[in-house]
Amino acid sequence: MCGIVAYIGPREAYPIILKGLKRLEYRGYDSSGVALLNKNLQVFKKKGKVAELEDSLVGKDVHAHAGIGHTRWATHGEPSDRNAHPHSSASGRLAMIHNGIIENYTQLKAELTRKGYTFKSDTDTEVLLNFIEDIQKNNNCGTEEAVRIALKRVVGAYVIVLLDRDQPDTVIAARKGSPLVIGIGKGEHFLASDASPIIEYTKEVVYVNDYELAILKADELILKNLGNEKLTPYIQKLDLELAAIEKGGYDHFMIKEIFEQPDTIFDCLRGRLDVTKGTITMAGIQNNIDKLTKANRIIMIACGTSWHAALLAEYVFEELCRIPVEVEYASEFRYRNPVIHPGDVIIAISQSGETADTIVAIEKAKENGAFIMGVVNVVGSSIARISHAGAYTHAGPEIGVASTKAFTAQLTVLTMIALKIAKEKGTIDQSRYIHLLEELHAIPEKVKEVLKLSDSIKRLADKYKDAKDALYLGRGYNFPIALEGALKLKEISYIHAEGYPAAEMKHGPIALVDEHLPVVFVATRDSYYEKIVSNIQEIKARKGKVIAVISKGDDVISKMSDDTMIVPEADELVAPLLSVIPLQLLAYYIGVAKGYDVDKPRNLAKSVTVE
Ligand code: G6P
Repeated sequence: MCGIVAYIGPREAYPIILKGLKRLEYRGYDSSGVALLNKNLQVFKKKGKVAELEDSLVGKDVHAHAGIGHTRWATHGEPSDRNAHPHSSASGRLAMIHNGIIENYTQLKAELTRKGYTFKSDTDTEVLLNFIEDIQKNNNCGTEEAVRIALKRVVGAYVIVLLDRDQPDTVIAARKGSPLVIGIGKGEHFLASDASPIIEYTKEVVYVNDYELAILKADELILKNLGNEKLTPYIQKLDLELAAIEKGGYDHFMIKEIFEQPDTIFDCLRGRLDVTKGTITMAGIQNNIDKLTKANRIIMIACGTSWHAALLAEYVFEELCRIPVEVEYASEFRYRNPVIHPGDVIIAISQSGETADTIVAIEKAKENGAFIMGVVNVVGSSIARISHAGAYTHAGPEIGVASTKAFTAQLTVLTMIALKIAKEKGTIDQSRYIHLLEELHAIPEKVKEVLKLSDSIKRLADKYKDAKDALYLGRGYNFPIALEGALKLKEISYIHAEGYPAAEMKHGPIALVDEHLPVVFVATRDSYYEKIVSNIQEIKARKGKVIAVISKGDDVISKMSDDTMIVPEADELVAPLLSVIPLQLLAYYIGVAKGYDVDKPRNLAKSVTVE
């Protein structure tokens, strides 16, 4: 969480930083701020979105060739001007932005308070900054050295970026556990939480690793470890186009991303799935196929929407590969004492590749000898780099905070991995294998069909937008889709929604059903069909409003339902790739109808880089 941008070079820093912050708002938008270093070190900050900061700076002198900027997702201290970053040190000589959490900040704060320091904000960041300044005073050293000494005492995760009024030609940054990319231009350098603020200026980047320090001048980049040894920066070329991170005529990123799904699923299959040859080519899987086929157990680790993809993958892997699968919330797994054996394979699923809990859970499993496969969207992200092997989802940048296209890409990749393992293990017969390849291959065209429901779902959204609660029910492969549908509604429209296995509903949620409660059934034709028909009847008998996602030609459920969203027929194993889309659209249109900022729902962030 929190987005950071910095610039040093011959151009005006402020417009570059401002534009970069707008691109990074998906990481948090409680408040934002910039520090600009000219003759003076000026700090401007404002509660609210970046546009509010921009308005507040109209007419101000923002001329500078070095600057840092931050968009915040609050951890320590409420969203306010006071708690917004950048923070200034007690002397006013240093300004700093921070992404992450300093876990031992209370202890550091107590030490500083005893020495007479006072604090203007409630943040851990201001504590760390004054700790750095204090070290500098006591050791009579430069900022860079003080940062290095301070970071050895720090427990937690951080990216920090500092400006020093007395060193106007330098920006200092360091990373542990939160993402940081350096862009290398001609006589200029950029820094950001991801590459989106950088790509229009340069495609040459360096991903900073944990425990590394970057000292940037306009024409020089020095990378060091905390032991003050120089490192050779590994320069990579970005494979990202500017168009991919712009709205392209859509009102919101979320709807653009929903509509991109025929292409993103196609891109995910492209070059991998060959129906004619009956093959799936995935180098990361092929090179480690023995580990996968011989796995005693697969543990899937993820958070949020990615966790729902993991849950669905459990059903698919167990069905096709006959390997026991466990699905874990990364945040629970990392703090338990899980039993992990060297023969276990971890599949870590993450859109951003930067989710703090998932990263730590992977590290824990790695220490215990497990083999780690990453299923990640963001190329070069932390999870991609710490995994032993993996497969990218190739969905392109996902900017809308509520995940949509990354989810369907995750399902697509996970299904291909399962099919590949099953084929190799011999747990699937040839005709079913070929049938499933064909079914996957047909998905992008079928998704196009589903997207034609957009206008009718918009009308449905108007009808149900004032609901206070909603229940989402599904069975089997559609149960994780019910969870995902409920999550989307909660995130975007702030309507309380629960996802449940349809049969389990009798053990509690049925008590909520009355004539006001919309119940969304994910009820495409599959092996659970007859059972879910009974569940629908149970809801109808209690006067609940039934909205059902059903397969084309189903006139049984359509007669029982108040409203339907009809998707093309597909094998039950791949049908969730279709049935989730109407639920994404429903959440989107309800959020829009209620007038909410669907790309930036309150309190959420796209990339949760704090635990
Ligand atoms: C946040 C996002 C979700 C996402 C989850 C996991 O909560 O808002 O959309 O599913 O993090 O993120 P990851 O990047 O690991 O998939």
